[in-house]
Amino acid sequence: MHSVAPTSIADTHDSPDVSSTVLTTPDRSASCSPALDEKLNAPGSASSNKSLHSSRSREEPISSPRPIRSICCVGAGYVGGPTAAVLALKNPAIKVTVVDRDERRIRRWNSRHLPIYEPGLAEVVRIARDGLGDVSKVEPQEGSRTPNLFFSTDVSRCISEADAVLIAVNTPTKMRGTGKGCATDMTSFEAVAAEVVRHARDGTIIVEKSTVPCRTAQMIQEMIHIQRPGARFEILSNPEFLAAGTAVQDLICPDRIIIGSAPTPEGLEAAQALAEVYASWIERSRIITTNVWSSELAKLVANSMLAQRLSSINSISALCEATGAEVNEVSRAIGADTRLGSKFLRAGIGFGGSCFKKDVLSLVYLAESLGLYEVGAYWRQVVEMNEYQRDRFAARVIKRLNSTLVTKKICVLGYAFKKNTSDTREAPALEIIKTLLDENPREIAIFDPCCNPLVIEEEIRALQKYGPPLLSDDGGCVKIYSDAYAACADSNAILLVTEFDEFMNFPIPAARPAAQAASPAKTALAGVELSKLQLNEEPGCSLDCPDCQMGTGYGDDGANDADTLPKKQVDWAKISSSMKSPKWLFDGRCVIDVPKMEALGIRVEAIGSSGWSV
Ligand code: UGA
Repeated sequence: MHSVAPTSIADTHDSPDVSSTVLTTPDRSASCSPALDEKLNAPGSASSNKSLHSSRSREEPISSPRPIRSICCVGAGYVGGPTAAVLALKNPAIKVTVVDRDERRIRRWNSRHLPIYEPGLAEVVRIARDGLGDVSKVEPQEGSRTPNLFFSTDVSRCISEADAVLIAVNTPTKMRGTGKGCATDMTSFEAVAAEVVRHARDGTIIVEKSTVPCRTAQMIQEMIHIQRPGARFEILSNPEFLAAGTAVQDLICPDRIIIGSAPTPEGLEAAQALAEVYASWIERSRIITTNVWSSELAKLVANSMLAQRLSSINSISALCEATGAEVNEVSRAIGADTRLGSKFLRAGIGFGGSCFKKDVLSLVYLAESLGLYEVGAYWRQVVEMNEYQRDRFAARVIKRLNSTLVTKKICVLGYAFKKNTSDTREAPALEIIKTLLDENPREIAIFDPCCNPLVIEEEIRALQKYGPPLLSDDGGCVKIYSDAYAACADSNAILLVTEFDEFMNFPIPAARPAAQAASPAKTALAGVELSKLQLNEEPGCSLDCPDCQMGTGYGDDGANDADTLPKKQVDWAKISSSMKSPKWLFDGRCVIDVPKMEALGIRVEAIGSSGWSV
């Protein structure tokens, strides 16, 4: 999910600032995956892990577990915030507190303008955080509810008051030291785990929400042995499966919930206590319990397999371009096989986002550190194919434009890594722009309907740190637009880089009314319309709220919170009339209706098809 400076608790999409939930790390040096390797390879480690690892029947009945009445979620970012909000919404009797040491971020969660954008999230927070109706009456009226979602910076106190603590902080790829560029950077996670172990009361359930390397629970276990010998904590792995742009929906209607625990009676009891929390809205058959290691590994494998599917279809798109086959047709044909299924088969310029690359690389590192080099090489190829796909697209653009961009204006439509998000982490757009810049174009125009132009500018400016100026304001050729027509005007070529509905050249089925009917907030409330609820007054914003300052509805991550506004598709005839001939459109997402576009006088080159010919 989301990104950049304001959102750098990145990969677990957590807080906006990497350090925000990192409570104490004396020299900020701790990075755990290599440390985990040592544990994995340490003689005797298997026996010391036995209680977490050994397999035992999960079907045995468990005496009813002590119910969870309060949850503390550490990390107010893209995972922690939405997860806590939906847990609170669905469990009005449970007090859910989200903590983060970033005061500004917490202030924003406690205000009208939330710090992150996800469709439906604002509504869920409104209900759980602000409550419904007048609960001060002795006989509260039907439909009223007391607030049960809180946001705080008092990390240690909130940890000490919780029955269960969810760790939902950033676990990006290590950028230095052992395992650099591949291993998981556990700095934030380790620091928070230590804080939890220090402050949690005896009997607290510790839950790994962040995506972590397999065997991380062992690290927490060892912290407990050292810091709190004799204390009883159960460690559960309960990975998140939220995707950017659909996080609330993914939480409300998940395919599955995975809960990994020790196979001991206490471990199974803790797993059941957490399962009860989810069972308040998710059918039991979707709640899968496993051992901790399976759960930790399952998250990495889920993302790696999805990424592998994309690299597979993207590799086939290259074959299609060379043979005359159409990748969309191939996808449809193979996706109809129920053994394969139709999802994640849309070829494109390669996957982006904060998760896939980092999780595949984490799997590579795990394999290599266990001496399984062939396994590592197999998965590494998934990432390499992704880079090849992106570079191939940029090369095709340059080649089609007669191998020179000098004097030409190129318009990039879309900058975020996928539609309906402002998340730009690992977005292929930036790498493509870098390649095009080497060709010295007259202008590179960028427009994204969801990203705040100021955020894009910041990212481009970061590129020019050690090189020549890039932004037009600084004397370069990159210009960020807040209007699609202005961005496209006078361009020689348009690159469709993100598949926003706004850019489609055919009617998008049931734009508003139906979309509203299926909106996460409504699903969450079983069909009740938010406007019909007796919503309580929401808290105001502080003076430094960027949304209030801009008056635009952009979040500080660049999100446009206007998801209630109808999506307005661009008028391609108008765009075509303002372009320079020959007019080129490079469809990096295989989403454009080619004959329709060509009827407007625009030549289309799409991923996975052989392209325009005279
Ligand atoms: C991914 C997983 O889908 C989530 O289940 C997981 O919880 C999350 O990572 C995480 O670990 O936090 P996300 O990266 O937010 O979610 O978004 P996806 O919808 O999976 O898209 C990833 C990339 O694949 C995007 O660049 C998207 O454009 C691309 N994609 C997706 C395609 O190119 N073609 C497709 O058919 C589908």
